[in-house]
Amino acid sequence: MILVAVATPAIAQTEPTELINRQHCMFCHTVDAPFLAPSFHQIAERYRKEPHAADVLARKLRLGGRAHWGDTPMPPPSERGGPLSARDAHTLVDWVLSQ
Ligand code: HEC
Repeated sequence: MILVAVATPAIAQTEPTELINRQHCMFCHTVDAPFLAPSFHQIAERYRKEPHAADVLARKLRLGGRAHWGDTPMPPPSERGGPLSARDAHTLVDWVLSQ
């Protein structure tokens, strides 16, 4: 029997690979080298000390938003592979911020 922990703790450090693939995050991002988008290290560095960063970023992942790193905004979920639940957005953001 395989037991899987379903309840995600507030800090999800394990890579949510399936979500990342489904949303094509690595099409534009890498963990440590800026590519078409800032690297996840850069993003974590920038937001680590901001108290509401996780909420703001999770919202942005779901709804999209204006660009403020460069000129290219990140596309909304509909253009990335499908709808993203609030919970999944938080899982992704927690992982990004732990990089
Ligand atoms: C089509 C390219 C593309 C894809 C796919 C993509 N991103 Fe991005 N992402 C960007 C760009 C470009 C930016 C910089 C936007 C800006 O300047 O605000 C960005 C910014 C971000 C930021 C920082 C947002 C901010 O407000 O500072 C986070 C966090 C992020 N991406 C996470 C993800 C995650 C997680 C995924 C997968 C669900 C993903 N991205 C998929 C292009 C992409």
